[in-house]
Amino acid sequence: MDKLLIEGGVALHGEVTISGAKNSALPILASSLLSDETMEIANVPHLHDVTTTIELLGRMGLSIVVDEKMNVEINSSGISSFFAPYELVKTMRSSILVLGPLLARYGVAEVSLPGGCAIGARPVNLHLQGLKAMGAEIKVEGGYIKAKAKRLRGAEINLDVVTVTGTENLLMAATLADGQTKIHNAAREPEVVDLANCLIKMGAIIEGAGTDTITIEGVSDLKGTSYQILPDRIETGTFLAAIAMTRGKAKLKKTNPDILDAILSKFKEAGCRIATGSDWVELDMSNGDLNAVNIRTAPYPGFPTDMQAQFTALNCVSNGTSFVTESVFENRFMHILELQRMGAILKLEGNTVIIEGKNRLTGAPLMATDLRASASLVLAALAADGTTEVERIYHIDRGYETIEEKLSKLGARIRRMPGRIKS
Ligand code: UD1
Repeated sequence: MDKLLIEGGVALHGEVTISGAKNSALPILASSLLSDETMEIANVPHLHDVTTTIELLGRMGLSIVVDEKMNVEINSSGISSFFAPYELVKTMRSSILVLGPLLARYGVAEVSLPGGCAIGARPVNLHLQGLKAMGAEIKVEGGYIKAKAKRLRGAEINLDVVTVTGTENLLMAATLADGQTKIHNAAREPEVVDLANCLIKMGAIIEGAGTDTITIEGVSDLKGTSYQILPDRIETGTFLAAIAMTRGKAKLKKTNPDILDAILSKFKEAGCRIATGSDWVELDMSNGDLNAVNIRTAPYPGFPTDMQAQFTALNCVSNGTSFVTESVFENRFMHILELQRMGAILKLEGNTVIIEGKNRLTGAPLMATDLRASASLVLAALAADGTTEVERIYHIDRGYETIEEKLSKLGARIRRMPGRIKS
């Protein structure tokens, strides 16, 4: 397995380009199941989760062409299977996103039940409840969700908890249902809006995406379209944290500051100077002290749980004591033990980490545990004295496109060491 070797202590400078958003690309790829016509999707990030989604759709019989710039052309007219096997779903929970489209368009789907994962139980009960409200018959047997429906019908759906992929699954299903669907307490994430915009271009009738009530008038079919995925706000936030923690100054291009309010306001509170243009953000921390900031994660427009680990790492190398509270997932603190191994002073009380800021961390051998926790370890390593080796970086490759190349471009001393191939 590959490792990352990082020599810390270099302030990051320069410019780097942000990739398309993973969490938009996955549902938008799944939405190709809703039409017989070809979809052309641009700005797709080259990530492990994207490759897994393409493999899943390919195994169902969709024809998929990917060019060297990751423009994806996808057509579902040759679909021959409605099955998402455990071996793929276990590596990527968001495979569940094929359930809604398959049911809506073909009236049948068999999708492995995602298990627990490193950051908590992560059930899919709300996806299933919503689809049942739309008339689907669903049973869970042998670890598989087996669902069928003649034609889904519109329904009033109240989500007990704000769920991003749950909202997306139901939104996609409702586009082809008979009549009107209202999703109350819907997720307002920009990636949900991106999916809705793509569906609207395909001919869907959707109002209210980006608010907590989405109204969908079902149509009988959707057409193909071309669509450009929005920039990744979490990759943007992660790189901003790297620049801040190394006391650097750098510019991130092809991003979207309009969807970064909660993240940018925390960087400002921490003492970073931020400048923005229509599609770029620059962070300057070159002459200043970084101050620790309190964080409480919440659904959008609150502070994203996907940036919690990175700010926990940032607080470790900032002035003052801080409190980071995780309120979306129950067990998203796998990074704490690893950060402690670098000399960070933090302790967990309930769902809050209390961090005593300390100026210097020291490099250490570390183990990546999940996607965003791994990112926080890379950030800590960039800011630490000495060398850090991060193992199990396949977690990072799930969500960050060529992270070592992009960080090297900003001057970081980071390289990937290929793992030994077992004979
Ligand atoms: C998505 C994102 C992930 C992000 C998360 C929260 C994708 C591909 N992934 O994950 O990066 O961290 O949103 O912003 O977009 N829940 C239930 N029942 C359900 C569904 C969810 O109880 O049926 C709970 C979960 O356990 C969790 C909360 O709802 O506590 C939010 O989870 P959810 O928004 O569904 O996360 P994902 O969509 O899996």
